Amino acid sequence: MKDIADIRETLLQRFDTLETKSDILKAPELKVMFNAIKDQSVEERAAFGHAVNQIRVELQAKVASAEAADEVIEPLDVTAPWDVNTGPIALLSTEDGSIHPLMREITVLGDIFERMGFAIEGSREIDDQYHMFESLNFPKGHPARDDYDTFMTVETDKDGEPLIAPAHTSTMQNRMLKKYKANLVADEPIAVVVPDRVFRNEDLDARHEHTFYQVEGVYVAKNVHAGMLIATLKEFLQAYYAKELDVRVNPFYFPFTEPSFEFALSCPFCDKKGCGICGYEGWIELLGCGMIHPNVLKAADIDPTVYTGFAFGCGIDRLVMMKYGIEDVRHFHSGKLDFLRQF
Ligand code: DAH
Repeated sequence: MKDIADIRETLLQRFDTLETKSDILKAPELKVMFNAIKDQSVEERAAFGHAVNQIRVELQAKVASAEAADEVIEPLDVTAPWDVNTGPIALLSTEDGSIHPLMREITVLGDIFERMGFAIEGSREIDDQYHMFESLNFPKGHPARDDYDTFMTVETDKDGEPLIAPAHTSTMQNRMLKKYKANLVADEPIAVVVPDRVFRNEDLDARHEHTFYQVEGVYVAKNVHAGMLIATLKEFLQAYYAKELDVRVNPFYFPFTEPSFEFALSCPFCDKKGCGICGYEGWIELLGCGMIHPNVLKAADIDPTVYTGFAFGCGIDRLVMMKYGIEDVRHFHSGKLDFLRQF
């Protein structure tokens, strides 16, 4: 029998010329070689069999990769401002991008709060555990720390604690209280909102994203009470949805407010009748809020026997989803032009 290496060469050359690449696996030479295994001497049989099998494996791999290369691959141009398969229709001019719906709505809600006398501040994308927890009355080991599915980084702060990606905008409360404390001396309230991005290690679904937006609010002065909190939120939501809404306030628990509430509003789509948007409940849970805990005021050197305040934290994505009937929060970060261009 011809030298195995020669047969291999012949088969490889033929492979290149074949129209249907898989025909190489039916080559008579292969069959002859396999049949010849049993005729080898006992000492040579294993090595011979192995060599023949190697050739078959090599040819099978070449066939598989040739077939994969033959598959029609849809062209994908991630930079094209149109669907490359249907051509440049509804062309989005490169000079004419559009503002992301969340960014636009953040401007809208910021304007409403500004008209109500609130200053607007931004948050940050890396923070420490003092601002995430301690300053908000979650001491070390507090079980409610686990509720926040906080992303930790490998970097540590000066106490050796991992730095974190903020899981709520409440991380800014202590800074805002300190920054605007001078207002109190001038007999002005501290009134700030912080709309910004937050991060949580969530199981993702139509209502949960790992990256989303909240707007935090803090208001501190003398004689602030829960009625002012409810009136402020109701006023804000009615301005945002441009209609009268009923609100429902249920007791809840947050370490940084006492008492704490969960705030629901009547569904702006069905007026409490029940529909797909509100899960047929007629009400939509929208935000957490409450009267700022004395320990939170103390952490900013504000005397809780003189001043009281309220705070709230509201998910912006959900607010916007409800305004436009968007059924899946993941659309916001999908980069889908079909979605984005509707706004
Ligand atoms: N930080 C809370 C959360 O993300 C929301 C919240 C609740 C903020 C009560 C507040 C508040 O300022 O007072 O779940």
